[in-house]
Amino acid sequence: MAYEFTVKRWWRKFKRYLGWRLRNPFAPYEDYYVYSVMKKIRHGAGHPAIGSASRPVREHTELLDFLKRYGLQPNDVAVDYGCGSLRLGAAVIDFLEPGKFWGVDITDEFYKLGLEARDPAWVQQKKPKLGIINPETLAKVQADKPRLIGSWHVCSKVPEARLDSYIGNIVSLMSPGSIAIIHFPETAERRQLSGLAWSSPRSLMEKVARRHAPNATISFDPLTDKEVDGIRQTLLVIRT
Ligand SMILES: C[S@@+](CC[C@H](N)C(=O)[O-])C[C@H]1O[C@@H](n2cnc3c(N)ncnc32)[C@H](O)[C@@H]1O
Repeated sequence: MAYEFTVKRWWRKFKRYLGWRLRNPFAPYEDYYVYSVMKKIRHGAGHPAIGSASRPVREHTELLDFLKRYGLQPNDVAVDYGCGSLRLGAAVIDFLEPGKFWGVDITDEFYKLGLEARDPAWVQQKKPKLGIINPETLAKVQADKPRLIGSWHVCSKVPEARLDSYIGNIVSLMSPGSIAIIHFPETAERRQLSGLAWSSPRSLMEKVARRHAPNATISFDPLTDKEVDGIRQTLLVIRT
């Protein structure tokens, strides 16, 4: 019964992806993620991480707390890479001086939803910088010399074939003295957790990070102490 349910679910999701791929033969995979999330939101189903129904998995200050643990000061520039609807980024914006926060994502639709939900006076005062991930935006972020880059609940959404581009982009924002902290669900082997999410072994994360930052110090820290179904929540830490 459970097996039948799993196969049916898998087939439904595969058909949805196939239909989208046939309609969008040349689009990057990231567009499929945006399409799937926005479809849920437009149909009123809401999404746990994006839009008005989003809630943090743990604390809304989790990203800020970790950035501070790695040395973030209010006058530093920090990046929320894959910021979504600023579910965790808002606390970082609050902590930083105006204009020191960069939120970037594969679409502007998600952070626009996040901005709409916030007090316009707060947005006006804190002046968060936001942009779609592309070479122009990455160059602007890099020019601001971010000291800390955090990427939370994003790596799990990146298929293996796109990991090089994801981690390579993050490394491209770094300069001497900067630190990137990348959250990922860790398992012994690469595993598909749902239609749109994967876990990774740290060996894969280290191999990809090393390829893009051969001289960096690369380490791992736990995000939480818990292990559920063989999955840990882990941070890949890259220091240049
Ligand atoms: C689960 S949401 C998390 C959003 C935000 N970090 C948070 O915790 O609220 C995943 C986010 O990753 C973004 N994303 C997916 N693939 C990405 C990629 N290859 N590069 C950067 N961001 C990506 C999505 O657009 C989405 O905003």
